[in-house]
Amino acid sequence: MQKLIAMNGMRPTGPLHLGHYTSALKLTLGLQNSSTCKEIYLMIADDQALTDNYGNPAKVSDNVLEVALDYLSCGIDPNKVSLVLQSQIPALKEMAFYFLDLVSLSRLERNPTVKAELKQKEFRNNIPVGFLSYPISQAADIIAFNSDIVPVGEDQAPMVEQTNEIVHKFNYLYGNGKEVIHPCKIMLPSKKESLRLPGLDGKSKMSKSLNNCIYLKDSPDVIKTKIMSMYTDPLHLKVEDPGHTKNNPVFIYLEAFASDSHFKKYYPEFNSLKELKKAYEKGGIGDVKIKRFLLDVILETLSPIQEKRKELEKNIPYVYKVLEEGTKKANKVANTTLKRIKEAIGLEYFNNSSLIEYQIKKYQ
Ligand code: TRP
Repeated sequence: MQKLIAMNGMRPTGPLHLGHYTSALKLTLGLQNSSTCKEIYLMIADDQALTDNYGNPAKVSDNVLEVALDYLSCGIDPNKVSLVLQSQIPALKEMAFYFLDLVSLSRLERNPTVKAELKQKEFRNNIPVGFLSYPISQAADIIAFNSDIVPVGEDQAPMVEQTNEIVHKFNYLYGNGKEVIHPCKIMLPSKKESLRLPGLDGKSKMSKSLNNCIYLKDSPDVIKTKIMSMYTDPLHLKVEDPGHTKNNPVFIYLEAFASDSHFKKYYPEFNSLKELKKAYEKGGIGDVKIKRFLLDVILETLSPIQEKRKELEKNIPYVYKVLEEGTKKANKVANTTLKRIKEAIGLEYFNNSSLIEYQIKKYQ
């Protein structure tokens, strides 16, 4: 089978959280540890982060290293995955400029993820053009590396759709029957709970700006406080009351993280989540007990990641080196794609002997 190219990225507006881990990061780790891919690019999207943090650029630049540390702590292997720092790839901006011509304002305004973000940010009548058009810049990120698959959470589906619309329009207009730039497919987590992990408050998604996250680098004490004050089932007042497991973030997290071996180790009264759910729904199990179990599961999941982070924090120059090397490789590929794009549009004026010959003839 032909090996694929995978690409995804995250915005450096803070350290990464469990939502990033269950979706894009776990998928990337899975690809890295299989033989599916010949190339994998994992971006730190600092330019994209600036589209809504332009007033506070230090927040973005400070978090670049934070995200790089999180990537590597989770087990991303720089020999198999190129870490890419978006702002250091000039070709992305050039590409995005040509793609701007292929997308209408109303199309951008229809993007459901952007719509939800706009509502949350309350730009009102002052929506920055850069923010509204970030899906076009994201299309450049994906197209630049000839990506076949984009492993992400569900909220990124509209970006992948937008990318493919640009690809098809570009190839139709400028391709002369050929594929100049490459369409891609989204790759989503197989567990439905991991598609969009809810926040600690039970709100739609775990998000830095909603302040409802467990960060990968949170200390065990902080994680304990966060889990113990989590939103659960508001109708489950007494231990004997029947509880609801649906829309209950504690159970959604258990679905995403707990395995049967966790039960054996920390909650041997039950063999599986299915059994625990049944018992909770019947009544007789208190929320504190469930939360303690979730705490054990999360701490066990994060402990190797946090160990690795401690090691990496002692070697910051190494982390920068990894970032620099990955970005160097990414620049090479992106420049080749940009050259194809400009040639297809007809923007190769110099060192182009056939163009010069044609013009000479025209003026003879
Ligand atoms: N939009 C992504 C986020 O919100 C970040 C991102 C930038 C990205 N470029 C990408 C994701 C390319 C996948 C592919 O975190």
